[in-house]
Amino acid sequence: MSSSESQLARLLEPVQPGIERMREVMLRQLIESSHAVGDMTDHVGRFRGKQLRGALVLLSGEATGNTTDEHPAVAAIVELIHLATLVHDDVLDGASVRRRVACVNQRWDNQTAVLLGDFLYARAFALSTDLSSRLASRVLAEATRRLCVGEIDQAALRYDFELSQERYEEIAGAKTATLYAAACELGARYPGGREDVGSSMRQFGYELGLAFQIIDDCLDVVGDERVVGKSVGNDVEDGKITLPVLYAHKVGDDATRAAIRDVFTRPDLVGRCERLRGVCDLAAGVEFAMARAKELVDRARDRAARLEPSAHRTALMELPGFVLERRW
Ligand code: IPE
Ligand code: IPE
Ligand code: MG
Ligand code: MG
Ligand code: MG
Repeated sequence: MSSSESQLARLLEPVQPGIERMREVMLRQLIESSHAVGDMTDHVGRFRGKQLRGALVLLSGEATGNTTDEHPAVAAIVELIHLATLVHDDVLDGASVRRRVACVNQRWDNQTAVLLGDFLYARAFALSTDLSSRLASRVLAEATRRLCVGEIDQAALRYDFELSQERYEEIAGAKTATLYAAACELGARYPGGREDVGSSMRQFGYELGLAFQIIDDCLDVVGDERVVGKSVGNDVEDGKITLPVLYAHKVGDDATRAAIRDVFTRPDLVGRCERLRGVCDLAAGVEFAMARAKELVDRARDRAARLEPSAHRTALMELPGFVLERRW
């Protein structure tokens, strides 16, 4: 286990038993009699990722004094939806590595990955109909809708250097922060009521999730694939204009801007990300994006600090720092 993996394991310690139950529920959903599907669900089931969203359902429930026997199942549904989005996202981004192993689209093919993603969504929503309250289905269907809108808008705005920071954040928020927000809201509110507590935890999740995506976008341009555990450089390869690039473009002179656009658009260019580093001050872009992420995690931490003191609140207060410093 790397040091940041053990740091995360320590952070999530207060909800470890819930995480184990979440895993059991999730793995049951991956069982399928078809050998072909079984091979794929084995593949995606073996590597668990950071499990942050599922853990947030549990932490947010415990820290707000709202725990039920169904929380681990709600957490499992959130992680299944997250997994479905990753399987589809890797097709969209033409990625080849995920959670340190080959992506589904790489090991099999795009068609199969699209269908496996659909399979995972179906399992997640079927599981949500077994719950005693419809709140999780409702909140997660809405989060999934927004997430798809975010991915589609991002694809529609590829190569658009006129993108404003506000619009970039709206898209990053939709595709990533929405599911974090839903996880935190459900933890605090499931099975119903408590709208004010739910809304405050929802805000916490949104700020944390938006910071998470901004950091992710920095890791895509400066991260090390062996540490991050997934393909990097894909945003540049694929014309996705993220905050560090947007800033480097904005502060660059005319020649720099032209060079950035050229790196993004010239046909058949090899190693776009590497070249991008050579034509602009990407470090300044990353610094700017990190400062924005810091603002967001500070806000999230302040929000968590308003909860009653407990080991779970401590974890919620420390997670923003982990997200800010993460390298995987
Ligand atoms: C990756 O999320 C997708 C993004 C929103 C950037 P994670 O980094 O949480 O993925 P896993 O679950 O740990 O693999
Ligand atoms: C993914 O954004 C957002 C999702 C909803 C999956 P990215 O495309 O940046 O995620 P990674 O970097 O592939 O994990
Ligand atoms: Mg991706
Ligand atoms: Mg993507
Ligand atoms: Mg990314």
